[in-house]
Order: sequence, then structure tokens, then C-alpha cells
Amino acid sequence: MKVVVADDYEDLSRRAAAWLHRTLAGINNPTVVLPTGNTPVGLYRNLAADPNSQFLGNARFIQLDEYQGIPREDSRTLAGWFWRVFLQPLSIRKSALLSFDPSVPDPDGEAERMDAAATQTGIDVCVLGLGQNGHLGFNEPGSDFKSRTRVVDLSEESIKSNAAYWGDKGQVPRRAFTLGLATLASSKHTLLLVSGAHKAGILTATLKAPQSPQVPATCLKSFRDVTVIADRSALPAGD
Ligand code: GLP
Repeated sequence: MKVVVADDYEDLSRRAAAWLHRTLAGINNPTVVLPTGNTPVGLYRNLAADPNSQFLGNARFIQLDEYQGIPREDSRTLAGWFWRVFLQPLSIRKSALLSFDPSVPDPDGEAERMDAAATQTGIDVCVLGLGQNGHLGFNEPGSDFKSRTRVVDLSEESIKSNAAYWGDKGQVPRRAFTLGLATLASSKHTLLLVSGAHKAGILTATLKAPQSPQVPATCLKSFRDVTVIADRSALPAGD
């Protein structure tokens, strides 16, 4: 894994936009997976402000993760967030995103449908955030590295960190869809974004601990072409 050190969050966001630009150059109609959360907001802001971001216009996006068991029209779906924070500011049509339907009566079938779609086109580029418990998407601690797209129970930590989007912890859905770790591993290029001192411990584990499902992000060591962009505050002291 290549580790790039950014001075601060702004620098990380600029570098992430440049990485995406460079990596997508020359790929026709790429299939791209992008994260939600606080970390990528600066990246999306940079892309929206850059007149050269039309390169994303011919991309197809596959949703990384989504809550399960809520109406599709609920404004708190991750697809709704992605529309407001990424697609709409970049004037990308809604249909460019292949999303999970959080309300389907057969969630397992829905997960299979999404996995088949990702397998059929392949993933060219995947950008990920890092959960404070080491999760990627909603692949929580204990996730098998061979896992495919599926429905998972959210960990207590994820419920807590998603509470801000739901008013309070009690409102957060208990289950979610996520692309699986093996599904993500098929990506040709992967970028992990890590910002803030509260991520320093889990970033150290991701980079230095032996691979283990207890820290799902350690599976990145087996992915092809992985770049980590971390700001200084997220880096362990002395690195
Ligand atoms: C969330 C999402 C992930 C995201 C991660 C980090 O719960 N399921 O896709 O990357 O946690 O979020 P943040 O960037 O807000 O720290």
C-alpha cells in the first residue's frame, strides 16, 4: 500500500481529487464506487468546484452501502445523501448511480442483484473511508475477507457514529447493505481516505497489524494498487 501524507484535511481533499482525476484518465465509461461519510465531503467539494470534472460524466457509480428496512424516499438514505452531496453538485444524472433499494421485501435477493451487477461490469476505481472500528463500507469487524455483498447487523460503534444523521442513536436502522470485502477487492484501483486524530489508532492497525477480520481494513493489503491518503493528524506519532 502506498501511503501519501497530506498536511491537513484541505490538502487531503485536493490530493484525493487529483488522484481520482489521474486514475480515471483513459478509462472509458468507468465503474466507480464512492463512500459517504464526513471524510469524502472535501473531495466532492473540490470536484464540484473544478470545471475539469466532466470526466466523471461518463462514469457509472455503484453504491457502497445503504441502510436496510427504511423507505426508499426517506431523505436519510445514503443514496439520498450521495445525491445531495455528490451527484447533484456535479450535475450528474441520478440514473448514473446503481443503488440498493432499502425497502425491498427480499433484502438477500437485493444484495445478490447488486453483487451480480458489480461482478458483471467489474469495479475500476473504489474510494473508501475508514470506520473507527476498522470497517470498510459496512463490513464490520468479523467480516470474512471472502464476503460478498450482503445484509449485515450494524455494530454498536457504527450505530453510534451514524446517530448524527438520525437525530439520536435509537433512530438508526439496525441493519444495512454493504458491498462485500471480496467484491471490493476486485477493484482495479483503491483509495483509502483517513482524516483526524480519532482515526490514528485504527489507521495504525490497518497499516501495521497482521491481517485479520477483526480489523476489516487490513484486507486492503491484498488488494491491487492501493493508495492511502491520510492527513498528519491521522498518522501515528513518529510516522
Ligand atoms: C460510515 C460508512 C462508511 C464510511 C465510514 C467512515 O458508517 N458506512 O462507508 O466510510 O463510516 O465515516 P466518516 O468518513 O464519517 O468517518
